[in-house]
Amino acid sequence: VAFIGLGTMGEGMVANLVGAGIAVKAWNRTAARAEALGDRLARDLPDAAPYAVAGSPATAAEEVDAVLLCVSNDDAVARIVFGEDGVAGSLGPGMLLVDHGTTGLEMTARLDAVARERGATFLDAPITGSKLGAASGRLTFMVGGPGAAVERFGPLFAAMGRHAVHVGDTVGLGQRAKYCLNMSQAVVLQGVLEGYALARSSGVSVAKMAEILEHSAGKTGVGSFKTPYLLRGDFEPHFRLDLMAKDLRLAAALAEQVGVVLPLSRAATAVYDRAESAGLGDRDFLATAKLLEQDGASRLRDDE
Ligand SMILES: NC(=O)c1ccc[n+]([C@@H]2O[C@H](COP(=O)([O-])OP(=O)(O)OC[C@H]3O[C@@H](n4cnc5c(N)ncnc54)[C@H](OP(=O)(O)O)[C@@H]3O)[C@@H](O)[C@H]2O)c1
Repeated sequence: VAFIGLGTMGEGMVANLVGAGIAVKAWNRTAARAEALGDRLARDLPDAAPYAVAGSPATAAEEVDAVLLCVSNDDAVARIVFGEDGVAGSLGPGMLLVDHGTTGLEMTARLDAVARERGATFLDAPITGSKLGAASGRLTFMVGGPGAAVERFGPLFAAMGRHAVHVGDTVGLGQRAKYCLNMSQAVVLQGVLEGYALARSSGVSVAKMAEILEHSAGKTGVGSFKTPYLLRGDFEPHFRLDLMAKDLRLAAALAEQVGVVLPLSRAATAVYDRAESAGLGDRDFLATAKLLEQDGASRLRDDE
């Protein structure tokens, strides 16, 4: 397969593909990152399937069965697919084009159209599981597109993840599900952080509050995962805040399109817009906690 985009997610996904015996031709905008991954794979996985670095997205996509994309946003997808040396020209009959990024619906339709034009099949298969899930092969996929292609892609899903949900045969349903998932996670995490902010500022420690949440119906996956990082003051990105802001905007556009009013999501989107303006875009999305501190909450670390 060809794999385009060796960021936080792509790096782990590629390691799991070659570890499962699937040869990969990779391309990344910053070539040094692709070379460094090759060095790491040679050191850590000497028995893995071949990994090669291609000179362009187009050459990566030559003579492969599937082309997998995992880049930041629509502009990046446009560049790697429709750019001068993009993968579009290398697609051919019988091939699969799969987008694992969280991408807009218009761009998703364009990817489907170009795949069809060239006799290939497109699946939108965005992911969840964050950096650790990608590294450990525990991703969940939300997939839109024809069932036969989903079945054919099964071994690749199995190499990179634990669970693939075929949302439906219509392209774009995977992306719609992904926007809803991330919108829920952003709202839930913001709720947990605001609970911590009020607790700490009124004399209850974050650690005590976290212990109570863990043993109550207020326990959440995203809250339980992020709290230890908050307590350590560790905002290194597992999922960048600017990417979550992008996903909230995608969800807001979808809500408007279908005529649904979502008051908490609207408020969360405004929080993320402010966090981006405050220069927190390249931090983990947990960093909206810093805005609460700026707005007057006590520091959300018990030791300070
Ligand atoms: N991290 C998560 O937890 C997570 C979870 C689920 C879904 N996602 C989605 O998965 C996608 C990738 O996320 P990530 O966390 O891996 O992002 P990331 O760590 O920021 O990596 C982004 C990747 O996109 C490439 N890229 C960015 N702009 C580009 C451009 N204009 N042309 C070509 N390549 C470009 C980057 O190349 P360089 O190395 O050159 O910068 C890098 O390979 C996003 O759609 C994100 O929303 C992420």
